[in-house]
Amino acid sequence: MDRWLARLIVAQGRWAKPFGDFNHRWLHALFRPIPAIRDLLNGRWLGHPLHGVLTDAPIGILFLVIVLDVLDLRTAADVTLIVGILTMLAAAVAGAADYADTDGTARERATVHSTLMVVALLVYVASLAIRGGGGEGADRALAVWTSLVAFLVLAAGAYVGGDVVYALGNMVSRHAFRGAGTKWIALEPAEVDETGNIPEGRPVKGKLGINTLALVRQGEIVLALHDTCAHAGGPLSEGTIEDGCLVCPWHLSKYRLTDGRARRGPTVYDQPAYEVRRTDSGGWEARRRAS
Ligand code: FES
Repeated sequence: MDRWLARLIVAQGRWAKPFGDFNHRWLHALFRPIPAIRDLLNGRWLGHPLHGVLTDAPIGILFLVIVLDVLDLRTAADVTLIVGILTMLAAAVAGAADYADTDGTARERATVHSTLMVVALLVYVASLAIRGGGGEGADRALAVWTSLVAFLVLAAGAYVGGDVVYALGNMVSRHAFRGAGTKWIALEPAEVDETGNIPEGRPVKGKLGINTLALVRQGEIVLALHDTCAHAGGPLSEGTIEDGCLVCPWHLSKYRLTDGRARRGPTVYDQPAYEVRRTDSGGWEARRRAS
């Protein structure tokens, strides 16, 4: 069954890719000029993706609608459905902010997820409209069956959404499995200038054991962050320096150079930061800053 489901989802790429690219264009244009709102919706203030927090509410509430319908508690079921629809809208707005910065397969899969959720939402609204008509008998049965169908679509959407996170790692910290060791290790900058120093005023790549760092020299001080952006793996050494921060070239997340603190999303995670010092032999060594 799992293979069949995986094949079924992958097969949706035919329409999901062009549709996702289209959505990406307008969502990007919508969110880019309002970084504070986008940050709020991404969940940077929470240090956790907000969409992931909000999605639990509609799924639980809309499941309760089924229970109340079965018990024939009509007013309670209808009011719960309204609350479910409202929480679904809130989750959708936060999800749209995350969706605006997805790429490749994650964007395709997120397109399938969001399309299913929009279909579920529309079917729920139809159910609510039928309930609002105050119908009895066949009409009430239709309203109940309609919301049951909507829940099945919602569950399918949640399944695909889980895939976006758990199978594709979208909005998962790229440093989730990185050790927090703070041992000094020899640092090898990829470039040095004519004086043998790390070039100043722009990020430079450096090798620290198995890790690659983005180094920024400011006079005698060398500041360093891990090169792999916590958001989706962009190379920070190809980014730009802005207000004492390093800006990722992929989706413009901004990390403070001194401690890796996220100052602008879409990342909701801080970036590993490193201390760098000169060695007695004139080289450099670095270690991860304790967080
Ligand atoms: S990879 Fe998305 S902001 Fe860096």
